[in-house]
Amino acid sequence: MARRTKIYEGKAKILYEGPEPGTIVQYFKDDATAFNAEKMAVIEGKGALNNRLSEYFMTGLNGIGVPTHFIKRLNMREQLVRQCEIIPLEVIVRNVAAGSICTRLGIEEGTPMPRPIVEYCYKDDALGDPLVTEEHIAAFGWASQQDMEDILALALRVNDFMSGVMLAVGIKLVDFKIEIGRVYEGDFQRLVVADEISPDSCRLWDIESGRKLDKDVFRRDLGDLADAYTEVARRLGVLPKGSTPMTKPTLIN
Ligand code: TMP
Repeated sequence: MARRTKIYEGKAKILYEGPEPGTIVQYFKDDATAFNAEKMAVIEGKGALNNRLSEYFMTGLNGIGVPTHFIKRLNMREQLVRQCEIIPLEVIVRNVAAGSICTRLGIEEGTPMPRPIVEYCYKDDALGDPLVTEEHIAAFGWASQQDMEDILALALRVNDFMSGVMLAVGIKLVDFKIEIGRVYEGDFQRLVVADEISPDSCRLWDIESGRKLDKDVFRRDLGDLADAYTEVARRLGVLPKGSTPMTKPTLIN
């Protein structure tokens, strides 16, 4: 069989050409990185968990009319997605102060935000994904004014959906990052939620205990990352109820 064409390899995923034009196969690696890849590890099972969790969230979003790039999961580590042109922005929504906003503004971690705060970072690893304003985005032509209105609406709808899904299983959605892609349909372009939504790209705190169930477990050496992600998957019904903390996940189809 011919080898698939690799389009791009990032820190957590590899993209291959899809079976049909306009499609891409997204492969989830077990690699975990933090602080712009200064810290790296291989966490067995992470790729399969993120593949399944991202499928779960993207399918839910598609179901409520929030367009995403997700088409279908192919196997344990791969999903088929629509090819899109990624807008070079990390779109962050914060409900509770954590991470960089705390150091930047001197806010204590855990302080609720008066309302969801949306931030934009310019996607450039060499620069460390710097925070930018809508002025920069417009002036440098990364997105139009109309795009920015659509991106804000998408980000807030994702926040509402994800907050509700998490609250239902006793988890607080503290913050998250999404990426937005452009897809072309004839003469029109549409913006869709792309990349992934997983505990790699969210902060998730257990409401009762405050336990962190996201990549901060790895960033801050707080324990076993696969255990934390397994807990999220199990609560959402993505893993069988009685399954033991895993190194090799047993995933429900
Ligand atoms: P921050 O507090 O470090 O700015 O992160 C905000 C959110 O974005 C948090 O949920 C983690 C996520 N994130 C990523 O998905 N990728 C990144 O490279 C960084 C820095 C944060």
